[in-house]
Amino acid sequence: MSFPPEFLNELRDRLPVSEIVGRRVRLQRKGREFQGLCPFHNEKTPSFTVNDDKGFYHCFGCGAHGDVITFVIETEALSFPETVEKLAQMAGLDVPREKPEDRERQQKRRTLEDVVEAACLWYERNLRLPVGKEAMEYLKGRGLDEATLKRFRLGYAPNERSALKAHLVAEGYEETLIVEAGLHKPAEDTPDGKRGPIDYFRNRVIFPITDRRGRVIGFGGRVMGDGQPKYLNSPDTPLFHKGRVLYGLAQARESAGKIGSVLVTEGYMDVIGLAMGGFDYAVAPLGTALTEDQIIQLWKLAPEPVLCFDGDSAGQRAAARAAERALPLLKPGFSLRFVTLPAKEDPDSLIRKEGPAAMRRLIDRAKPMVEALWDVEQAKLQNETPEQLALLRQTLEGFATRIEDRNIQALYRAALMRRMDETYLGMVAPPPAAASAAPAQSERRWKERPPRGRYRRNGFQERPITSSERLADMIETRKMGAFASGLRLRRNQQILLAAMVNHPALIEEYAEVVAQIRLDDPALDRLRGELMRMAATVSDLDVEALHSHFSAQGFLTTLQRLRAPEVEDTAPFVRAIVPDERTKLSLDDFLMRLSAQGELETQLAEAQAALADEMTEENWARMVSLRQALQDLVNGPSQNDVFSQTAESRDGAAGNDSNSQS
Ligand code: UTP
Ligand code: MN
Repeated sequence: MSFPPEFLNELRDRLPVSEIVGRRVRLQRKGREFQGLCPFHNEKTPSFTVNDDKGFYHCFGCGAHGDVITFVIETEALSFPETVEKLAQMAGLDVPREKPEDRERQQKRRTLEDVVEAACLWYERNLRLPVGKEAMEYLKGRGLDEATLKRFRLGYAPNERSALKAHLVAEGYEETLIVEAGLHKPAEDTPDGKRGPIDYFRNRVIFPITDRRGRVIGFGGRVMGDGQPKYLNSPDTPLFHKGRVLYGLAQARESAGKIGSVLVTEGYMDVIGLAMGGFDYAVAPLGTALTEDQIIQLWKLAPEPVLCFDGDSAGQRAAARAAERALPLLKPGFSLRFVTLPAKEDPDSLIRKEGPAAMRRLIDRAKPMVEALWDVEQAKLQNETPEQLALLRQTLEGFATRIEDRNIQALYRAALMRRMDETYLGMVAPPPAAASAAPAQSERRWKERPPRGRYRRNGFQERPITSSERLADMIETRKMGAFASGLRLRRNQQILLAAMVNHPALIEEYAEVVAQIRLDDPALDRLRGELMRMAATVSDLDVEALHSHFSAQGFLTTLQRLRAPEVEDTAPFVRAIVPDERTKLSLDDFLMRLSAQGELETQLAEAQAALADEMTEENWARMVSLRQALQDLVNGPSQNDVFSQTAESRDGAAGNDSNSQS
């Protein structure tokens, strides 16, 4: 029984020799190889080596030599077909049954390979002949040097109807084979009349596409200038399947394996531009979304391929699609990372304009997949209504559910839900643990990257203690708008009201803020009305009096909601047992943060608009720094250490919680 060579190759590709040998021999990694005691002869010091890249084992002691298949045959006393069956099962491949057509297809495949290789050589030669002068100038004009032309075997298809076919026929290839290789189209009858035979690529720069071992299987052809379609790819042939190919893989493999990283871009020229910039470990799908097959191939090169898709919306959509496609495939240690390129740039143009260092910086800052998914979905949020937030949560939950690996699924769910809660519920105060764990660092980050504009002049950092004058001042100068977005969140509304209810002495000072916020919960709205009325009419309001008054007026449930653990855990300073003065400091801090957040959001929106309007490095940097500042603010600890003190006093006085009165 014989098996198609391409199947046996696939088998060898999928099963690293070290894995199969490692089941019988204790192997130790030595650089790119493995070493162990030879299973074929008796020895005390290891002279048996395994090389996964080359796909074989070799014993320097006894000369035993072979690949995965021979290893199993020799060590397990199986026949060749039995061994192949066994290995195929391990590799998750179906063993092809032998049919006469298969053999014929095999035959053809070999010759198809020959004919595309012959075409490739011809295209390459044309580029260096007078007929290829314009193409050569085009490529040189795009900055390609001779070494790059050779490395990627670029060529030129002259503007003639049948020059390639004539050449190949002269070399002894059958016309049917030339057609089957996708190099030439025969004459055909079309509704518009007869169409003559014609070469597939004409007057185009040729980008040969190879399999992972560098054997040419198809081509891409680019018009020189602005014609349409910009790129033409070989049609699918028995050799060439668009969804499985990664352009540049053969060239990128070695480097990628060595440094454990691979870049994934969108286009031919990006792969080439990156290689010229020193990033010789980049590949690209052929203008289609990344397929599962391609993701799995990428993981054989590096655990976290870095996607560098175009900065336009199509590129970003493609990145998001790739992320979603990777979800079910995730396994421990394997993921994708995402680089966000400036709008209108691709890696090729970025490197030409800004140099490799700029690309390097972006690669170093590539986002993990979990973050990229969050960013994409969060950006889609229209507004923060409960319905929209629920939809966001549902989408995120859906992502997690699609992950098959149980552990990763649970970790994604936790990470995404935490982001959700931090962003839309616990906007202001981080949990106490986070506050004490990270302050130094995030404070430093904050200082390195101060937000620009009015907000900084207001002196968020310099402020030793916020005074209520300043707050009143801010409100007077109509900065109320700045609070608005933060106070849109019900949790923040609750915090403010809870502080008032538990510290009636402060009501007068904060009356203006309290009066102005829009409360979308009618019960809260009514409670506020009553609170303001009380404050205006009763002097020396105290907690007890307020409490019994509210109870009598039927506000007990609302009151209890304000004193719920969720509110008080988010902002411990609101508790009645905290001294008024401390509450005031923390409340000022809380409001300053809300205001800062509002301002930053406004500025960020402006910066985003400016960026959409005009893509400049400066606009980009401004947008990024504002986004970071906002994130730091939202995630960072309170600037006021009163917060952590109140957390302590709360623990000390838990039994005496004002909640227990109701
Ligand atoms: P791009 O339009 O981004 O091209 O398409 P590019 O790679 O930046 O090329 P240059 O710099 O303009 O020369 C990205 C990829 O999409 C596929 C090609 O694989 C291309 O590299 N594509 C694009 C097509 O297959 N057909 C087209 O008409 C356009
Ligand atoms: Mn480009």
